[in-house]
Amino acid sequence: MVAQVIAVEPFDLVVFGATGDLAIRKLIPALYHRDADGQMPLEASIIGVSRRKLSSEAFRDLARQAIAEHVSAQDQTADAIARFLARLTYQPVDVTGEAGWQDLAASLAASTRILICYLSVGPDLFGPICDRLGACGLAARARVVVEKPIGTSLASARAVNDAIGRHFPESRVYRIDHYLGKETVQNLMALRFANALFEPLWNAAHIDHVQITVAETLGVEGRAGYYDTAGALRDMLQNHILQLLCLVAMEPPTSLAADAVRDEKLKVLQALQPLSHDQVRQSVVRGQYGPGASASGAVRGYLDELGHASGTETFVALRTEIANWRWAGVPFYLRTGKRLPARLSEIVVAFRPIPHSVFDTSAGPIRSNRLVIRLQPDEGVKLFLMIKDPGPGGMRLRRVPLDMSFAETFAVRNPDAYERLLMDVVRGNQTLFMRRDEVEAAWRWVEPILEAWAGADEAPRAYTAGTWGPTASVALIERDKRSWHEEMA
Ligand code: BG6
Repeated sequence: MVAQVIAVEPFDLVVFGATGDLAIRKLIPALYHRDADGQMPLEASIIGVSRRKLSSEAFRDLARQAIAEHVSAQDQTADAIARFLARLTYQPVDVTGEAGWQDLAASLAASTRILICYLSVGPDLFGPICDRLGACGLAARARVVVEKPIGTSLASARAVNDAIGRHFPESRVYRIDHYLGKETVQNLMALRFANALFEPLWNAAHIDHVQITVAETLGVEGRAGYYDTAGALRDMLQNHILQLLCLVAMEPPTSLAADAVRDEKLKVLQALQPLSHDQVRQSVVRGQYGPGASASGAVRGYLDELGHASGTETFVALRTEIANWRWAGVPFYLRTGKRLPARLSEIVVAFRPIPHSVFDTSAGPIRSNRLVIRLQPDEGVKLFLMIKDPGPGGMRLRRVPLDMSFAETFAVRNPDAYERLLMDVVRGNQTLFMRRDEVEAAWRWVEPILEAWAGADEAPRAYTAGTWGPTASVALIERDKRSWHEEMA
C-alpha cells in the first residue's frame, strides 16, 4: 500500500548547528526521505550553518555520509541522493558574533519562499541567534524551530521563551517534542477520536489506572556532559512523558486545529495534582544505574561513565493523579530510565474489573481488560480480552491480546518523527508542537519534585544496569495492589 504524498510549498530551511549530532543523525536523513518520497518541490533549498569554515561541497560530503550511515540501504538511490545534495549549500556564521550574518541574509534576500530557521544548537544560543535574526531582518518573516531542553526550571524556561518571543510571535515558533511526531503517538489520537468504541469508557468510571513507560537500554554514551545537568526527570519526563499523558487524558478537542488540541493538553497539565515535598518522598522514586549487564555484555555504572561523583538520576518512576471530573482518583504511573532491560515505550490503559462474575472459580481468575499502545519497538496496539480457552474441559478463561502490529498490517517503512515534524513546519501546522504555556505548565508541575530532591540531601537509589530500576519502583505500584504491565521484556 503506497501512501499518497502531497508536495509541500517551496521553502528555504536554514539549519543552525548543521554539522552537529542532531542534524547528522536525524535532520538530514529525515529531509532526504521526504525528498526521496517526492514531497519536496524542486525549488526547496537547505542551507547548513555553523561556525566551522566549510565549503558547500564539504557540507554535501558530510550529508552524503549522514545518508550512508543513517538511511537504510534499500532507501538509498543514486538519483535521490544526487537530487537531495543539489539542494544543499553551506554558510559559515559566528552565531554570537558578526561574521557571516550579512552573507546569510543576502543569500535569502531575493527569495519569496517560506523561510524556516531550525536552531539545532544548545538553548544558551537560542536568544543570541534570535537577536541576530532580528537584527539582519530575517526574523520578520521566518518560522523558528527549537527543541528541548527549553530551560531547566520554570524561570529559565520563561527566560528562553522570552528571548525567542522578542523576535517571533507564538504563531511562528515551533517547539519540537519529537515524541509527538512518532506514528503511534498520533495513532493515540486516531484510536481515541476516530473510534466510537473507547471514548465512552475513557474515564474514571471504567479505567482503573494508566501506566506510561519509556525504557531505554542505552546508557548516557557520549552525552554525559549534558545529561548530568539534566537527569531523567528533566530529560524525559517533563516533556516526552507528560506530552504522552496529555494525549491520553485530554478532552476531545473540537478539531485538530493547533490551538484546539493545545488548549486541551494545557488543561491536563494544569489539572495534574501538585506534589508536596512529603508526597514526593512517597510517590516519586529516583534511581541511578550502577555496573551491570546489557544485551551486549558487562556495562559500567553511571558514575564510572561520568568519571566523577553525581546525584543525577537516570531513572524516575512516579504516581500522579489528574484532578478533574474525568480522571479523579485514577492513578497514572509514569516511569523512564536508562540501562533498563529492554528498549520499550508503551502506554497501558488498564480497565476496571467486571462487577460480577457468572463463572465458577474453576474457570480461573478474570483479569481486567487492557489496551496497550506500543510506541517502540514493534509499534502497534493490543487489546487484552478474556476468552474461553478452546476445546473441551469445561469453561476455562484466558486473557489474550487482540493484536495489531503496524509492521504486519501495513507493509510500509515507519517514518521517523522528524520527517513528519519538519514537513509540518513547512505546512505551517503547529498541532504537534508545544505551545509556550504548555512548556511552562509542565515545568510548574515538575519543579516541586526538583526542589524536594535538592532539599532532601539523599542520593538516588542504586539499581543494577540491565534491571527495571530500583525495587522501590515496584513497591510504588504494588502498594496500590497493582503491578507494572507484565509483557515487558
Ligand atoms: C531525547 C533524550 O529527547 O529522547 C534522550 O534527550 C533519549 O536522552 C531520547 O535517549 C529517546 O528518544 P527515542 O526516540 O529514541 O525514544
